[in-house]
Amino acid sequence: MHHTAIKDAAAYINDKLTHSPELGLILGSGLGVLAEEIEDPITISYQDIPHFPESTVSGHKGQLVIGNLEGKQVIAMQGRFHYYEGYSMQHVTFPVRVMKDLGISSIIITNAAGGINKDFNPGDLMLIKDHINNMGDNPLLGPNDDALGERFPDMSHVYDTAYLSHAREMAAKLKLGVREGVYVGNSGPTYETPAEIKMLRTLGGDAVGMSTVPEAIVSAHAGLRVLGISCISNMAAGILDQPLTHDEVIQTTAQVREDFLRFVKEIIGTLPN
Ligand code: 6GU
Repeated sequence: MHHTAIKDAAAYINDKLTHSPELGLILGSGLGVLAEEIEDPITISYQDIPHFPESTVSGHKGQLVIGNLEGKQVIAMQGRFHYYEGYSMQHVTFPVRVMKDLGISSIIITNAAGGINKDFNPGDLMLIKDHINNMGDNPLLGPNDDALGERFPDMSHVYDTAYLSHAREMAAKLKLGVREGVYVGNSGPTYETPAEIKMLRTLGGDAVGMSTVPEAIVSAHAGLRVLGISCISNMAAGILDQPLTHDEVIQTTAQVREDFLRFVKEIIGTLPN
């Protein structure tokens, strides 16, 4: 996406704001409720923002919610754009660029994911320590805009280690048994076959989903500090003998909602600089 598109979208949003956001939030399937906790919210529909795509999947709203959450100025995406919807990687990650332009220096990216690690259970929360881009595409393909980031960005610390330790501490404080692992990003829209899940486990994956990787790559490129959290909504194929459904994803995220909200709010309120 072109620089001027980012500037246009950011200018449109900025006109409605009194404070600059410092922290971005991308809220995954069933996790958009966090945006309802934002105080003095300003909401902006994606359809009203210049150059923004529109989200199409159920369980996702399509709006930005901007305001105060636990003493921080946040900008939340209630609903995101998925590659499987047919958007280019540039479109999927456009909002990250816009939020960066609006002033954020950190981002919390959340998702619902299938558990690959057999020790996991549906309803677990997992801190993302690292990812595997298995989507067959990359949002940074094409000419590099040096104003946005470097040509060959380092990916050895996509997920900020200080944020990871902080999240670990907050989990302990709240007595939440939070997992950690590697998130595999697949394009979807199919769930995986049992053979594919076995392969991904062999390759070091702990959870699999259809999002997050593009946004995390662009965040790293932009120099944002990233915290990633997966809600394990179901076990991936071949672990339990049970078909995977989007309904299960929505149902499980509804059950973890309370823990998820408590956890993320505690993290945000005490996020280190
Ligand atoms: Cl099992 N796979 C993928 N690709 N995405 C998911 C999932 C599984 N469960 C929730 N989201």
